[in-house]
Amino acid sequence: MLASDLDTTHRFFVPAAKGTEGVLKRELAAFLGRPVRGQRGGACFRGTLVDGLQVCLFSRIGQRVLLAVGEGPADDGDALYTAARSVPWERMLTPETPFSVRATGGNAALRHGHFIALRTKDAVADRLRAHLGRRPDVDREDPAVRIAVHVAGDRACFYLDLAGAPLHQRGYRTEAGQAPLRETLAAAVLALAPVGAEEAIVDPMCGSGTLVIEQAQVALGIAPGLGRRFAFHRWPGFHGGPAQAAWDRLVARARAARRPTRAALMGRDHDPRVLEVAARNARRAGVAEWVRFEQRDARDLSGLPAGVTIVTNPPYGTRLGRRSRQLDGFLRHFAAACQACRPRPRLVVLTGHPRFERLFGGTPRRRHTLFNGPLECRLLVYPGDEAPSAE
Ligand SMILES: C[S@@+](CC[C@H](N)C(=O)[O-])C[C@H]1O[C@@H](n2cnc3c(N)ncnc32)[C@H](O)[C@@H]1O
Repeated sequence: MLASDLDTTHRFFVPAAKGTEGVLKRELAAFLGRPVRGQRGGACFRGTLVDGLQVCLFSRIGQRVLLAVGEGPADDGDALYTAARSVPWERMLTPETPFSVRATGGNAALRHGHFIALRTKDAVADRLRAHLGRRPDVDREDPAVRIAVHVAGDRACFYLDLAGAPLHQRGYRTEAGQAPLRETLAAAVLALAPVGAEEAIVDPMCGSGTLVIEQAQVALGIAPGLGRRFAFHRWPGFHGGPAQAAWDRLVARARAARRPTRAALMGRDHDPRVLEVAARNARRAGVAEWVRFEQRDARDLSGLPAGVTIVTNPPYGTRLGRRSRQLDGFLRHFAAACQACRPRPRLVVLTGHPRFERLFGGTPRRRHTLFNGPLECRLLVYPGDEAPSAE
């Protein structure tokens, strides 16, 4: 079975939010120690199954981990079926392995994801019936093996999804406030800024605490995948086999990499209910001892430690499609509060507001476009009076 073969080299694709491909590529190359190529919507590399497991455990920015198992022509539904049927699925599934198929992309003849998934599912089932005498059930809710198919131009590529639930679901944020940032996007913001592992940060509009909790996990060396299960845990051949032994070694390595931190990490918000949510999330993430939450209006930045970096994602403020004037006034006041701080803190802000720079004043040292789902956002980095060591 594929899950007991640690020697074969596979091609992997790791999707991520648009605009974070470069920083994802650097992250993966750093812990895999092998070349990684950035491409639109993610990064790809060649490696063994164990490399794929490493990405599940250690990547803070990647959204999924897809192992390519075959590809072929997909000019129409019949070609797609033939291509899907030529993949040796009997190396990945047994008749007792419920599976699901998720489709992305498309072309002129294959416009609907549902149809692409259906034709692929039929091909998988028919191939398994021909090779094993029986076919497994499809289970969209709780599959043991998740197949992904991507159609682009006249080709289809078939993948096994190692993670299952997307990697932003670390397991700690079971509750959230309004408009929470995906954990993977928060991690990308911190890496792009960049915020150093020992840098003191405050998020004055922290909501459910994502930015501060992600930074605390970096500071403490907590691997993002330690608190959850992955789809590959249920693959035939994984349990008790060499892949499980390799996974156990990776987990032991991740646990041993935990380190103490002296970094001051603080989340503030004006909403006391969301602060309770943030505190519970921090507890689940194993960082509560190192993060302080306090209720405060963001227009009051008093009491910040010297040298702290403000990292924040202010409210988007779209009401019925129109940007509220109230939000513009709030952002001007927030800018004035930042200007009044002595020494002036470095500011890292992720905003979807098209006029943020005009309202805020000053000139960012860095500007980077990235996407929060479909929403185009800008990451802006304004220098402070004391440049922290990471700059
Ligand atoms: C876009 S959300 C931040 C989401 C957060 N990054 C997360 O992942 O959950 C904006 C936050 O700003 C807070 N907020 C709005 N006005 C505020 C104010 N005047 N002072 C402090 N916080 C405020 C809201 O309560 C909300 O939690």
